[in-house]
Order: sequence, then C-alpha cells, then structure tokens
Amino acid sequence: MNHLAFISYTGLDYTTRQVLKKSKEFYELMDKRRSLRVFSDKPVDKKVIENAIMAASSAPSGAHKQPWFFSAVRSSKLKSKIRAAAEKEEYENYTGRMSESWLKDLEPFDTNFKKPFLEIAPWLIVVFKKPFDIVDGEKKQNYYVNESVGIAVGFLLAAIHNAGLVALTHTPSPMNFLEKLLNRPSNERAYLLIPVGYPPDDVLVPDIKRKGLKDVADFL
Ligand SMILES: Cc1cc2nc3c(=O)[nH]c(=O)nc-3n(C[C@H](O)[C@H](O)[C@H](O)COP(=O)(O)O)c2cc1C
Repeated sequence: MNHLAFISYTGLDYTTRQVLKKSKEFYELMDKRRSLRVFSDKPVDKKVIENAIMAASSAPSGAHKQPWFFSAVRSSKLKSKIRAAAEKEEYENYTGRMSESWLKDLEPFDTNFKKPFLEIAPWLIVVFKKPFDIVDGEKKQNYYVNESVGIAVGFLLAAIHNAGLVALTHTPSPMNFLEKLLNRPSNERAYLLIPVGYPPDDVLVPDIKRKGLKDVADFL
C-alpha cells in the first residue's frame, strides 16, 4: 500500500474566549462582502491575486485532487475578447434563454446583457474545474469536483474581500468560450468568471437582506 507520511498538526491554538471573539469577528467581516457590478480601474498588484489564488487552492478537495485551475487575466486585449464573447451569450440569455420567472427574479438587480466591468476591472479570474486529470496520457477521474471547486471559490471570494477588494461571481453561460480564449486543455471546464478590483467611489448595491439564523440553520 502507498501510505503518506504523517506530520504534527500545527494549527491555531486559541482559548475558548478567543474562539468566540474570532468567530464573531469573521462573521462580521464576511457579512460586509457584497457583489459589485462596477469596478475602479485602479491597478491591483499581481502578488495580491497570487495570494488570493493560493488561499483558494488551500481548500479541501475530494481525495486531495485539487481539481481546479485559475486563469488570472489582466491583458486588455484578452479582457476585450472575453467581454465580447460574454455579452454575446448574455444577449441570448436575456432575450430568450432565461425563463420569465428568472428574468423577474433578476429585475431588482437591474442587470442586462452589457458587461463593461469585464474590461474595466484590473483582473478577471477565470475558474476552471477538472472532472479528470491526464497523467502520463491516462485519464484519472477526480472526485466531488463541483463541491471541491465551489469550496475553493468560497475561499477565493473570502480572500479577495479580506484584502479589501471586491468581486462579482459571474456566469455568462454557456461559458465554453473561456476554455477556447484562454487555451485550456480538454479536461477543463469553465466554472466561474470573477472580475476583481477596487470598488469605485460612492457605488450603490442592491438593498438585499440576508436570511436570519433561524431560516438557515437548525440546532438539534
Ligand atoms: C453561482 C453564482 C452565479 C452568479 N451569476 C451572476 C451573474 O452572472 N451576474 C450577476 O450580476 N450576478 C451573479 N451572481 C451574483 C448574485 O446575484 C449575488 O451574489 C446575490 O445577488 C447576492 O448578493 P451579494 O453577493 O452582494 O451578497 C451570481 C452568484 C452566484 C453565487
């Protein structure tokens, strides 16, 4: 059998008092996160994006396969191509592919097929999932791929917010144009398109309310 070596766990070591304080502070920090659909064009250092991606890649994954890949795009030429292709799909979505009830649910957000932020945000992080890997020419299945990549994106969004930046979880579907534009191999599927940057001054966001604890959890 092929066993891994085991090492001592060197995690955090808080008192119960600190645990309570940290849990509250983290909730309060995360509750301030909002999706933005307008961005400042102020540059963001590549190192910040690298750190956010490495935080994302520290996520748990089925059998530790880390079935994800992040393409971080800052090239204006590439961003323009992505915007054009995304708007083409979104035009079809808004004018025919989305159901009446879906369009009604989107009304409060005042969105449409136009996505200027895809050229304005300094970075577009495109997340790919890998249903399988190719090792020495052989197809190796990955496990719980959607769950794993979803968790990694959660880490990514938390890292972006923690750094004081903003993002949008964007899905201009179908998103296979991203696989082509970014030259990804045949075992990768576009999962999310995430513009990242600084918030512009005086930006407005939809006045959504979040569900309370009783509506999202049960303690048995
Ligand atoms: C999987 C997923 C896909 C989304 N796709 C889009 C999108 O294509 N366009 C958009 O404007 N917002 C999109 N959103 C953002 C949601 O509308 C937003 O998260 C929600 O309204 C809650 O707002 P908040 O993120 O500010 O808390 C998406 C969010 C998720 C999680």
